[in-house]
Amino acid sequence: SSVTIPPPACMLRPLEVPLRYLFGPGPSNVPPRILAAGSRPIIGHLHPEMYEIMNDIKKGIQYAFQTENNMTIAMSGSGHAAMECAVFNTVEPGESVLIAINGIWGERVAEIAERMGANVHRMVKTPGRYFTNTEIEQAIKKHKPVLLFLAHGESSAGLCHPVDGIGDICRKHDCLFLVDTVASLGAAPIFMDKQNIDILYSGSQKALNAPPGTAPISFNDRACHKMFNRKTKPVSYLFDMTHLSNYWGCDGKPARVYHHTGPVSGFFALRESLAILAERVKGYFPTSSVTFLNKKSFSSLDLRLPSVTTIAIPEGYDWREMLTYIMKHHCIEMTGGLGPSIGMVMRIGLMGYNCEKTNADMALHALADALKNCKKSKA
Ligand code: GLV
Repeated sequence: SSVTIPPPACMLRPLEVPLRYLFGPGPSNVPPRILAAGSRPIIGHLHPEMYEIMNDIKKGIQYAFQTENNMTIAMSGSGHAAMECAVFNTVEPGESVLIAINGIWGERVAEIAERMGANVHRMVKTPGRYFTNTEIEQAIKKHKPVLLFLAHGESSAGLCHPVDGIGDICRKHDCLFLVDTVASLGAAPIFMDKQNIDILYSGSQKALNAPPGTAPISFNDRACHKMFNRKTKPVSYLFDMTHLSNYWGCDGKPARVYHHTGPVSGFFALRESLAILAERVKGYFPTSSVTFLNKKSFSSLDLRLPSVTTIAIPEGYDWREMLTYIMKHHCIEMTGGLGPSIGMVMRIGLMGYNCEKTNADMALHALADALKNCKKSKA
């Protein structure tokens, strides 16, 4: 019974993690206070003290989302978990959904909805462009969807999409309004209740500066009515809100029963990041990448996403070479485009605690250095 596979040599070396300036679209650098919260001793996921912490997280998310929704929880998983949870629970196979696509996130949701058998209608614009409320209402009238998806923080395009008035249009046409704020929460204002958003989700690892792996999500009464009166069960057991609402103490039942083991340390860290948000007098971060990075912009000026600035790729340069140079010589992560914006933009994110003028100066200095030293590509 001796082992035949020897211990791998890499496992006998200590873990090495370099220090990096995470000035891309996420994850962002995590402040020591949040790292420390995440390193507290583990307790059981079903201990009463853990329920207290989860109740605090729920309150913190309600504040961050500006909602009184009872059905407010954090997913065990990244923003994608929340994205799938929203679609899987509120849409049944065969139902129509309408997806606004002006970057990668709409594309992703369309694929998720297709995989679970929804009848997907796409409204498409070039990355960096936005949809008018009239265009949205026309498409809703045409396709009669049960759900409309829109990314508030389109991180691939650097666009913060307006949401005012869209929730009202959705109500008028008996459609749920689903909004993605993974890249925008804590950087650009969002008011779930006032803006009549039915389902809202975000992520931990961007302007909240928590480690990746947890994702706030909230459903209002309209969304709850739809998801708890289904004919079919959601395709995912892990993301089934019937179970998750019990795990988070949102279903009014006296006891929480075992469903899955949540990421205990991730929840500690998320609680701390929401506490920091709650401590800020204005609630939102006062500055933005856009203010600091006065570069030629890609998205329309007044709709630029404060957390991720997309800049046009300088003429004649190879963006991959520039990014590699900046990482090698400045230890700074910046990224290229994503999905439909690949080859169109470079992206610089200064999120939450990273959003300081000194960091913006470092980023600009690194960019200038790369422009000087990266050979122009022979086009
Ligand atoms: C990921 O979230 C990205 O925008 O790159």
